[in-house]
Formats: sequence, C-alpha cells, structure tokens
Amino acid sequence: MAGRIPQEFINDLLDRIDVSEVIGARLELKRAGKEFKGLCPFHGEKTPSFHVVPEKGFYHCFGCGVHGTALTFLLEHDRLEFVQAVETLASMAGVEVPREAGVVRKNDRRSALFAVLERADRWFQLQLRQHPERARAVEYLKGRGLTGATAKHFGIGYAPPGYENLLKALGGGQALEQQLIEAGLLASRESGGSYDRFRDRITFPIRDGRGRTIGFGGRVLGDGQPKYLNSPETPVFHKGRELYGLWECRQALRDPERVLLVEGYMDVVGLSQAGVPEACAALGTAATADHLEKLFRLAPEVVLCFDGDAAGRRAAWKAAQLALDALNDGVSVRVLFLPDGEDPDSLVAKEGAEAFRARVAQAEALSSYLFRTLGEGLDLALLDDRSRLAHRARPLLERIPGQLVKTLMYQRLAELTALPQGALEAAPEQAAPVDAYGDGPFPADPHDGEPPLEARRPQAAPARGRVRRERAERALALLLKRPDLADAVPETALLALSEHRSEAGQLLAELLTILQQSPGLSASALLGRYVGTDAHERLLSLASAPLPFEGSALSTEFGELLGHLQVEGETEKRRALLERIRTGQAQDGDLEVFLALKRAAAGVDSQSS
Ligand code: UTP
Ligand code: MN
Repeated sequence: MAGRIPQEFINDLLDRIDVSEVIGARLELKRAGKEFKGLCPFHGEKTPSFHVVPEKGFYHCFGCGVHGTALTFLLEHDRLEFVQAVETLASMAGVEVPREAGVVRKNDRRSALFAVLERADRWFQLQLRQHPERARAVEYLKGRGLTGATAKHFGIGYAPPGYENLLKALGGGQALEQQLIEAGLLASRESGGSYDRFRDRITFPIRDGRGRTIGFGGRVLGDGQPKYLNSPETPVFHKGRELYGLWECRQALRDPERVLLVEGYMDVVGLSQAGVPEACAALGTAATADHLEKLFRLAPEVVLCFDGDAAGRRAAWKAAQLALDALNDGVSVRVLFLPDGEDPDSLVAKEGAEAFRARVAQAEALSSYLFRTLGEGLDLALLDDRSRLAHRARPLLERIPGQLVKTLMYQRLAELTALPQGALEAAPEQAAPVDAYGDGPFPADPHDGEPPLEARRPQAAPARGRVRRERAERALALLLKRPDLADAVPETALLALSEHRSEAGQLLAELLTILQQSPGLSASALLGRYVGTDAHERLLSLASAPLPFEGSALSTEFGELLGHLQVEGETEKRRALLERIRTGQAQDGDLEVFLALKRAAAGVDSQSS
C-alpha cells in the first residue's frame, strides 16, 4: 500500500501555492492592498471580515476566528480527505505527490484497516453498478424509492451473493486476508480460511467523524433474517460510540440548529432524501451518553424520535434518562413520538418533509416529558403522591451536569409538588439507585397491561420478579440500619405493601407494622423478635450488608423504594381483585375497592382522599 506523504513535500507545496488562488476559485475575493477580503464561508456575515494573505500563505476571519492554509481550507471548506487535498494542491502546482517508501509500520495498523475498509467500500459501490446480479439490488432500492443521488451520498453498495468474492476482488493474499478479517469484512472458518461476511446484501458504509469508513451495515433484499447484519466490533469500529449518518449530515449542513436521533439506517437515508438531512441513528443499540455528546457537538438541540407503540415509549424513557447525563447548559433535548406503526422513513415518504418538520417543531421538551412520565399514575392533589413525585424525580435531576438547567428543573419540580425548591435541592442525592433496579423510577405499571420492558427480550423475562425482590430486600436493609424510617411510612403504603407478592415485601410490611406499634425499637431488639425463625438468618445478613451512603440520601432512597413497592402492591391487589371479580368469586366490597384502586392508579381524583 501507499506510504505516507513526506511532511517536507507538503511544506514545499504550501510555499509554492498561492492561497488566494485556491480560495479565490471558490469565493468572491476583493483585493485590499496586499491582501484579499471576502465574506467568510464559515459563518454567516454581511460585511467581509475574511482576509486572505498570499504573502504569508494563510487566511484569517476576524468575525469567527477561523484561520489556516490552503490545505486546511480544502479540508474544511471542500471537506476533502487529507490525501485528496494534498493531491489537489499538487496538481495545481503541477507536481507528483511522492510517498515514503517502506513497509507499513506497526502503529500504522489502524490506517491499514481504514485503507482496506475504504477499498471494500468502493468495491461494494461498484458492484451496485456492475455486478451481473445487480438488477435485484437496484430493483430493491428503487422499490424503496431511493434515488441514485441518495445512494451515492450515502455510499450505498451491494455485496454480491457468494462466500468468496471480496478477498479475490481486492487482490488476494494472506496479509490482505488477515486485514479483512480484522476489519470485520471476512469471518474466519474454524477449519481455517475465511468467507465473506456480507453476502447478497445492500451495504451501508458507516463513517466516522472524519468521513472514513469504519464498518458496514448490510440489509437483506427482502424478508430474510437477520434483516440487518452489522460489522463486528473492530479496532476502528465501536458500536456504542458511532452514529450512522453523522458524517453525511455534516456534509449537508455546516451548522444545523438541531439533529434528530432516529432508529434505523433507512430512516436516516429516507429523511435525507426527503429533505431532512439532519438525522443520525445509533447502530441498532440503545443510545448512549457518548452518542448524545457527539450529537451535541453537531447541534445544540437533539430530538429523540420514537415509535408511538409500547416498545417505543419504553425506549424513549431509557433514552431520556441517559440524555440527562449529557444535559449541559446551553443544549436541549426534545422527544418526538411518531404515530403507531410508522418510522421516520415511512412517515416522511407519506407526508413529506414539511409535515415531518412540523411534527419535529412540536416535539415535547425533555423536562415536560420527564415530569409527565414520572407523574403518571399520581394524583398531585394528594400529598403522598406529590412526595412520591419528588422522590422519583430527584435522583434523575441530580444527574444533570448543567447547573442552570438543573436549577430550572428543580424549579419546575417545586411548582409541581408545592414544595419549597430549597428543600428539594438541600439534600443532594446519589444518582445510582435509579438504574440499579433495572427499570428505573418508571412508575411500576404506567402502561398497565403492556408487556414489561424485559418481555422484549424473552431470555430476560424473569427479571421483573427479581427486580421486585431486590427492591424489597434493599428497603429491608435500609430499615434495619435506620428503624426510625418506619415512622414516616403512611398507612396506605403499609396496606399496599402487605399485598406485595415477594416474601421480602411481606416481611418488610411486617417489620414496619412492628416498628410503628413500638416506636423507638432498636434494630437488634427487632431482630431479637425473629430468633428461631427462618427470617432471622436473612434479616441478619441484610442488616450486616454494607450501605454505600448515609444520612438524608438513605432516607430519600428508602422513600423512593417504598413508592415503588407500594405501586407494585397496589397493582397486584388490583389484579387479584379483578381475577376474583372475573371468576365470580368476588366478596362484598371487592368491586368498590377495585374501582377505587383503578381510579387512583389512573391519576383520577378519587373520593377516598
Ligand atoms: P428496524 O427493524 O426498525 O428497521 O431496525 P428499519 O431501520 O425500519 O429498516 P427497514 O426500513 O425495514 O429497512 C432499526 C435498526 O436496528 C438495527 C439496524 O441498525 C436498523 O436500522 N437492526 C435491526 C439490526 O442491527 N439488525 C436487525 O436484524 C434489525
Ligand atoms: Mn423502516
């Protein structure tokens, strides 16, 4: 492969090139003495503050501060690759670009991977134009309404059928084979040798922030499984960090006001073609804080787009929590739910860019979404529910790094709970408890009747029961550390807790009852009452479990856990009652109790308050 371009050559080249010629071919420049002036292409301006100084070989903008040489101009303005930019200048100067001789050094392994990925990329794109079986691929893309220009912009290609194409096409040889394996393009066989990972699939190159291809997504031409195949993790490709479409978005827009985070490759491509180029997708994984930080480097506002169905709402809740970790002052996040059954690609094809943008313009602010979701099932006319909202919200608000936005969020929480803001902010909370329990502070069943989050992944289905048990055990451990916590537990919570399905929940209800009947009882006295029972061992080990923190954080966590347990208990009670009513075994009053619980859960003002 080609060696490096010697630095000396580049210096020479820049010496020889007239920077005003390079820039003047791209912008309108007016001479002003020894310099040239023009409107800066890097920021919007009406009076020229962009200066080009041929004598010194550089440009400088007094408006936005950009400066550089002819080479940086080609990189930043024309967005050329480094080598391309050097070649452009060299051809202007009428010279050949020399390459350093010699073998690839060890620390050039990454560049070797980039090079091989780039060659594969070009080859896949070529197959879409030349392969004898390309018609099916072209048909497929046309069937989805893709234009040639869009395919080109995204570098969409075709990996033809067969197991042994790529290596041969790129020249063969063991060294190349190793590189292709390392780049994730070939998979190795156990018996030795290798085969093409992407076969008979549409290829979507995934590019990094500098436009280098680092991996691929490959879609079947129709209904096969898996629908999308992605490159594995490689030294240059890390799924949790990269965003599909980021580079293409930056190519299309210098300073987007906002950027959309969507789910799929085709959502990015479809939106772009329809005239909404400011979209990126996480690569088939949930969005990470890394992703969000990358997006905020591109635009100050991120709009998270989700399906309107239950799975979409769950995914939104997860992403919204993560977004809090990246919420610095000056950036904002909004949440957009699409109509059930639509994804951005299908929707924008149906209704067009303008209607889609109108939806985006009306997306809900993160703060509003957050408090609305946390408040689901709560009746803020009730004191208990207001305190529950505070308990649920505080650990989330504590995650926010931006001081101003955090203060504003607390202000809103103070309004909603009618608590003084000072009291809410006074005791700083540990951020950890929220996610430690698997499904966060999501009101236990805000979408009652829908499958729990874990049900989307069948192997994780039993997790919910475990989460409940762990929550109850955690509350027990806290209570054994601080028996006085029992004092503040309201009757309603105790009642609901006695309906809790976990043994630990039952035990917690029992302990709380004992403590409320004998205020001031110490933990050891409490344990003493259980000597000789099965529960004794268990309580002892919970009592000796180390706790990561003390003081008010501990009581806040206890309150929050109890809030969860109460909702779970109420839900279980409701289900048991419903079952009795359905099977004709209802007793007197069951129906009334059921309806009251249902009303309470729906947040409808219940008369029982
Ligand atoms: P979707 O199933 O929503 O597909 O997957 P889509 O993007 O709408 O695809 P089309 O419109 O049917 O072509 C969303 C994203 O999840 C990842 C991909 O990144 C996909 O774009 N995914 C999906 C996979 O990685 N593998 C799969 O088998 C399916
Ligand atoms: Mn789709």
